[in-house]
Amino acid sequence: MRRQWIGGNWKMHGSRSMASALAGAVAEARFGDVDVALFPPFPYLREACAACAGSAVAVGGQDVSEHESGAYTGEVSAAMLRDIGCTVALAGHSERRQYHHETDAMVAVKVAQALANDLTPVLCVGETLEERDGGRMAEVVLRQLGAVVAHCGIAAFERIVVAYEPVWAIGTGRTASPAQAQEVHALLRSQLARDNARIAGSIRIVYGGSVKPGNAAELFAQPDIDGGLIGGAALQATDFLSICAAAG
Ligand code: 13P
Repeated sequence: MRRQWIGGNWKMHGSRSMASALAGAVAEARFGDVDVALFPPFPYLREACAACAGSAVAVGGQDVSEHESGAYTGEVSAAMLRDIGCTVALAGHSERRQYHHETDAMVAVKVAQALANDLTPVLCVGETLEERDGGRMAEVVLRQLGAVVAHCGIAAFERIVVAYEPVWAIGTGRTASPAQAQEVHALLRSQLARDNARIAGSIRIVYGGSVKPGNAAELFAQPDIDGGLIGGAALQATDFLSICAAAG
């Protein structure tokens, strides 16, 4: 049985005081058998790290630079995230792929940077509605996954969390049905199993896209869904904690 994993991706929301209060409330909560991570905006990482210090709650960047250091204005390196107390980082969120033109190759390098700096990468994959309707869901998610396997090697997946986030379900209130999500999670796991059955059996593959307190338990009960990456519902402590409880 895999231990479930829940992440709260705050996206570009909040303020310094909100970050302290929300991270503080999550850090004080008692969880069952679940790993919990928070992804505040960069300027509030220190508040969240301070609030979560000494707790089991991990804090991470919503993105990480593919570069180690240097003249890359606006970028934040994996080493910097690690330096301020982060232990995890998102890579390849669909909003980064869509609005910042991140390619599969760039995402793979970001994952490698995170790993090299002792951060747990959360590799996000997912198809758009157009791709799903065009019968290309499998091709897209396997291509996104395969780019990271090719660049980092299958052994790296020992330390990676994969998040399946169908773009059409993000922030739309339109959740993938548990069966739809399960189908993709099983596909991703079986693809990894071709390279290493043990790693495929132990990796956490979490679902993201309009997860709410009311639908979390049913999603997390699917055999290949090992938790969730939560957007909107991560901005309220009560909602987020009830989702964590559904996983634990
Ligand atoms: P929502 O939960 O708001 O749909 O966002 C999901 C997401 O993108 C998490 O990274």
